[in-house]
Amino acid sequence: MAQQEDVFKKLVSHCKEYGFVFPSSEIYDGLGAVYDYGQNGVELKNNIKKYWWDSMTLLHDNVVGIDSAIFMHPTIWKASGHVDAFNDPLIDNKDSKKRYRADVLIEEQLAKYDDKINKEVEKAAKRFGDSFDEAQFRGTNPRVLEITEKRDVLHTRFAKALNDNNLEELRQIIVDEEMVCPVSGTRNWTEVRQFNLMFSTEMGSTSDGAMKIYLRPETAQGIFVNFLNVQKSGRMKIPFGIAQIGKAFRNEIVARQFVFRMREFEQMEMQFFVRPGEELNWFAQWKETRIRWHKALGLGDRKYRFHDHDKLAHYANAATDIEFEMPFGFKEVEGIHSRTDFDLSSHEKYSGKKLQYFDPELNQSYTPYVIETSIGVDRMFLSVLAGSYCEEALEGGDTRVVLKLPPALAPVKLAVLPLVKKDGLPEKALEIRNELKFSFNCQYDEKDSIGKRYRRQDAIGTPYCVTIDHDTLNDHQVTIRHRDTMQQERVPVADLQSIIAEKVSLKNLLKQIKS
Ligand code: GAP
Repeated sequence: MAQQEDVFKKLVSHCKEYGFVFPSSEIYDGLGAVYDYGQNGVELKNNIKKYWWDSMTLLHDNVVGIDSAIFMHPTIWKASGHVDAFNDPLIDNKDSKKRYRADVLIEEQLAKYDDKINKEVEKAAKRFGDSFDEAQFRGTNPRVLEITEKRDVLHTRFAKALNDNNLEELRQIIVDEEMVCPVSGTRNWTEVRQFNLMFSTEMGSTSDGAMKIYLRPETAQGIFVNFLNVQKSGRMKIPFGIAQIGKAFRNEIVARQFVFRMREFEQMEMQFFVRPGEELNWFAQWKETRIRWHKALGLGDRKYRFHDHDKLAHYANAATDIEFEMPFGFKEVEGIHSRTDFDLSSHEKYSGKKLQYFDPELNQSYTPYVIETSIGVDRMFLSVLAGSYCEEALEGGDTRVVLKLPPALAPVKLAVLPLVKKDGLPEKALEIRNELKFSFNCQYDEKDSIGKRYRRQDAIGTPYCVTIDHDTLNDHQVTIRHRDTMQQERVPVADLQSIIAEKVSLKNLLKQIKS
């Protein structure tokens, strides 16, 4: 665990050193849980967004995009339930004065039980070697059974408290589990209280005062309120989807873990409108489609898992998370929710406008049901970086830090490097770069030894380096160096464009999703 935390710290400082992510307002000592993306970060983020956008709007004939405003009529947040129910249960430690999310504290306690069980299994696996039967061990070992029992009891109690919205019971669980504040080390807890996560501001000024409005906490509502606009103007037939990428804002209390939990972040959401009664079928299909999208990146299938919700949100009749193995454990990157007709019905009620669809095949009107896929751009960004970050020992005792990013997502696709800064090599290198820059994000670098230049490109995840040497001037060939294997091959300059395009193309990545 300590080793993983170490990796995470290194990743955060790597992001700063190589222009991926900077703390916001850093010269003023920063602003809690707000971050800026640097020159490489913005390219990676844009590539992630394009991968998602194209997978939604190009691979599905019946999915179109919109870009709705961040400011929306305040009644929208009443209708969506956010004014009344978008809360976190908070608890304070009276000695340290630190504030925690009660549900997160209990989830961490559950994870501790899981860790204990896994440690017992690992120890036994070492002891028994090849003859070890893990399933049998988990099902019979008295110590493992004892911990599993405690874990399951806690899990059931926790799920019930969440579903019943029972704040007293959440506190009692924390007390009964003898959980201590990590800062003060004491169990001196306050009551659990609800805290609304929406930011508000004021718009305009009237004689009665300005109107209180909210910064949207999700992009989804912009889709719901435009459902009929898109359906009518696009002559869309159910089932169809509306996709959107945009900023969202939440006044997160436990804001930590870098870009994992931010106060200003970006979402990529798609609402898929279906016939009532068909939603669970579509829910299963979208689960499958979305996990394929993640796995096509090649970061390792074992790094993903589904986590079905114990507590369903007020609008859902099924929900799951796609979790990725971050350096701090498996964490939610994407949520897939069957939202029933909750949102459209509620907007009908609050706006007084009909939001129904006339189905020509059934010859009847109804309020469509909705499957939502909702993924955080920043969490996706973090998962891609965490899954790509490697420290490798090299021959001769040297080490290198390399980001083995999926080539289609890499900020820079190739670096063009003259072997030396003389003899006409820089001119030749620039000529090649100037030709290729129309197809790819290319960098030209002539400073320092070739080894140092390779290291700099490894650190930002550039999949290819092209070296121009004296022979190039005569044989019109260059050396391509592959980032992951460090192998080099000699290829004609004329073939560069097609060789690189094949490997870094987003099109090829999209084909792998096999939609
Ligand atoms: N419209 C549904 C919705 O917003 P959510 O589970 O609250 O559902 C969806 O959020 C996704 O947005 C999450 O899976 C996560 O990737 C991202 N997200 C949510 N809160 C975030 C935060 N504070 N910082 C970064 N990403 C966040």
